[in-house]
Amino acid sequence: MIGNVLKGSVPYDAAAVQKSIARVVFLSDLVSEGFPEISNIGEPDTKAKADIWTNRADFDKKVKDFQAHLVALQQVNDTEKDASEAFKTAANAVAQDCKACHDEYKVK
Ligand code: HEC
Repeated sequence: MIGNVLKGSVPYDAAAVQKSIARVVFLSDLVSEGFPEISNIGEPDTKAKADIWTNRADFDKKVKDFQAHLVALQQVNDTEKDASEAFKTAANAVAQDCKACHDEYKVK
């Protein structure tokens, strides 16, 4: 949804964007809880690389950066209510976090 706004294929709608960000914020809390130490064993169909557990501090930092960028995006969206440059910059920062973490910790 936010990606489509950035591409310009969907018109900016403050309420829809806000809802979409709130969902990702909720999910981002589950990311850190979703990879407890114990789930490291016996999940053959996961795309999570074992590196998550061996590089735990780095993974946790990526989750934190991701959450911080999400909060920033939420604040920009609340004040700007527009697909402004500031909004696009904040949304791109979040998208970079998705990619950075997937590149390192998700099997393709
Ligand atoms: C801190 C790391 C991290 C961040 C940040 C992150 N992800 Fe992920 N994501 C993962 C990992 C690890 C998996 C694999 C989980 C598994 O298979 O158990 C995953 C899986 C997924 C999947 C399932 C796809 C598949 O190939 O099975 C989707 C969709 C996804 N992420 C979307 C996103 C989006 C969109 C964002 C940004 C808004 C994001 N993720 C941010 C780590 C992250």
